[in-house]
Amino acid sequence: MPICAARQMAKKMRREFPMPHVDFQIGSELRRIEVDSSRSLLDEAVSAGLPVNYSCRRGDCGQCVAALAAGEVNAVNPSQSLHSDQGIYLCNAAACSDLVVSLPHFPELANVRQFRSPAKIHALSFLSDDVVELTLRMPPAMNPRFLPGQFVRLTNKERVTRSYSLAAAPAEDKLLRVHVRRVNHGAFSDYLFGTAKPGDLLHLDGPYGHFFLRDNDRASRTIFLATGTGIAPILAILEALSPEKRAALGDIALYWGNRHERDEYLRSRVKVLSSRIGLRYRAVHSREVLASPRHVQDLLTQDYDDLSDGLVLACGNPAMIEQARKVCLNLTLPADRFRSDPFTSS
Ligand SMILES: Cc1cc2nc3c(=O)[nH]c(=O)nc-3n(C[C@H](O)[C@H](O)[C@H](O)COP(=O)(O)OP(=O)(O)OC[C@H]3O[C@@H](n4cnc5c(N)ncnc54)[C@H](O)[C@@H]3O)c2cc1C
Ligand code: FES
Repeated sequence: MPICAARQMAKKMRREFPMPHVDFQIGSELRRIEVDSSRSLLDEAVSAGLPVNYSCRRGDCGQCVAALAAGEVNAVNPSQSLHSDQGIYLCNAAACSDLVVSLPHFPELANVRQFRSPAKIHALSFLSDDVVELTLRMPPAMNPRFLPGQFVRLTNKERVTRSYSLAAAPAEDKLLRVHVRRVNHGAFSDYLFGTAKPGDLLHLDGPYGHFFLRDNDRASRTIFLATGTGIAPILAILEALSPEKRAALGDIALYWGNRHERDEYLRSRVKVLSSRIGLRYRAVHSREVLASPRHVQDLLTQDYDDLSDGLVLACGNPAMIEQARKVCLNLTLPADRFRSDPFTSS
């Protein structure tokens, strides 16, 4: 069929079978897009350049959850979750009607713009036998902005994409750092621990995530929970605390779980921070023979009997996060005062 005949046919089809539209509410802003009802709302939102959050694209990480204010959706993949406690998984939801979708909105992100860019490996430093710090250099014209606690997605030349939390607050040198733990037969970590070298080109997109301190966070006690490399974004948050914010967080405690004592690859950084901001540090080791308790969530029940005026930020192993959430809610922590970033696998 000649091209203009095909275009006219497409126009006629759209007139007769209009595509659903979605109003995305982002704070006070409303962005309307037409969507293809065979594609996920996440794909449509990303194509339209909307500031959506995501990582796994398959209903596991929960990063893409948004509130459905009006309309009906169905699952692109019926074997994956469509609904969570807080809304719908945009990565698995397709429009069956016109929709109104409210994206999580945070004024703290007003100056943070998502970007996609090549990123060159500047350095690889082994922080322990199984943790490498990857330092990335962005093109000179770029000034990447993010909030401490957020993550980026990295893609290597084999087209493997994984999410990694930024391990330090934005710095003048504009270098970005992430800490990657070796996973046996892991596609991305095998690359970093094997053939990766300075000068390699990766692709970076982000920043994503809501694992950061809000401007109005206040608590009489603030508890940070980490396992393994989950410590990296937490130290980025803590090292960037202003004196006012430090005062607003009350007593601060940091619980860090590792298999062995030797796995505490940032112990000296934690010690410096502890004395600088007055932080109570508690370490647990799940595989040390005499260790008791062995998990951060078990220590919590020992140390606290009431968290009703607390704030908890947890990052790392998804099982730790789920169990810690239950423990905290039992200790009467309000549900919206538990913030987490589970390192789900892709
Ligand atoms: C928001 C977010 C932030 C993250 N930040 C970090 C970070 O800062 N540092 C970091 O090291 N990781 C982080 N992760 C995890 C990271 O994205 C990868 O999942 C991880 O590096 C494994 O990727 P891989 O390609 O090496 O292994 P894959 O090829 O994905 O996995 C290989 C096999 O190992 C299993 N597996 C994957 N991860 C683990 C694990 N942790 N423990 C045991 N088995 C596993 C898989 O199920 C699979 O069977 C984050 C994840 C998310 C969602
Ligand atoms: S991107 Fe939708 S749940 Fe992970």
